[in-house]
Amino acid sequence: MDVKDFKIQWFPGHMTKARRMMEDQLRLVDVVVELLDARIPASSVNPMLRQMAGNKPRVIALNKMDMADPVKTEAWLCRLKQEGVPVCSVDCHTGKGVKQMLNLVKEAAKPVLEKWQKKGVRNRDVRLMIVGVPNVGKSTLINRLAGRVKAIASDRPGVTKQKQWVTIAKGLELLDTPGVLWPKFEDPETGLHLALTGAVKDDIYDRRNAVVLLLQELLQKYPQQLASFYNITPAPEETAETVMEKIAAARGCIKAGGLLDLNKTEQMIQYEFKTAKMGRFTLDEP
Ligand code: G4P
Repeated sequence: MDVKDFKIQWFPGHMTKARRMMEDQLRLVDVVVELLDARIPASSVNPMLRQMAGNKPRVIALNKMDMADPVKTEAWLCRLKQEGVPVCSVDCHTGKGVKQMLNLVKEAAKPVLEKWQKKGVRNRDVRLMIVGVPNVGKSTLINRLAGRVKAIASDRPGVTKQKQWVTIAKGLELLDTPGVLWPKFEDPETGLHLALTGAVKDDIYDRRNAVVLLLQELLQKYPQQLASFYNITPAPEETAETVMEKIAAARGCIKAGGLLDLNKTEQMIQYEFKTAKMGRFTLDEP
């Protein structure tokens, strides 16, 4: 199968609403933290943010670093730093990297504070918001920064709620509602990577195709890890479809009558990849 044939049934209706909401939120803040998925730092970008945020200082945090290939995360950090973007990697589950992220926010806010000082404005707090595509970890980060356990933010574009500011450090206030960016699907590979990592719902793409393409990609990028996790030995040039059959056999996914249960197998592979049980992989190349 060719990745070019991977399709996502996406209706851009929500996009206009999400965009309007994002523009309203952006007007209220001084610094934007763009949360990307460390497994797919290119696919989880929405280029419209840059346009919408204009000259507002922006910090990038590569989240779910615990699930991504550490070597590639370093390479991504290097590349983004070279581009001049303040960037760090974080694990919002454990809080690793979050302090560094806040330091980057404070650094990015300095020109804003200087501008205020020149105007004689003192004692004004810097306001920031967290933005990103669905499932990237925005609510988890907000809850961590705000010291909350329970999720408070709705992830549906267009759902309004009372905005609240939470003081998270001296002189730093966080908008408690995340900015939800819509995923971009301009090219099929981006759509595939967003689907595989959980940024789009399962019912808008063909799971079998997604899993076959995932295996194809893993065979190319992480062949040893894939083989050892499933305890299989793929032959050279073996197709993803037959590798999937080997995985089904190795895991005992058999239907009544002795046939391989490929539905169950694809579901299992998808879950084990998405939750990093299979290992730490990065699909986007730096
Ligand atoms: P969102 O607001 O951007 O939509 O994302 P949200 O915080 O709801 O996080 C989506 C999923 O990603 C959650 O898992 C969350 O726990 C998980 N997550 C967030 N940050 C990290 C991280 O740094 N590392 C790992 N490994 N996972 C992270 P879930 O299964 O949907 O929910 P839950 O069972 O964890 O509550």
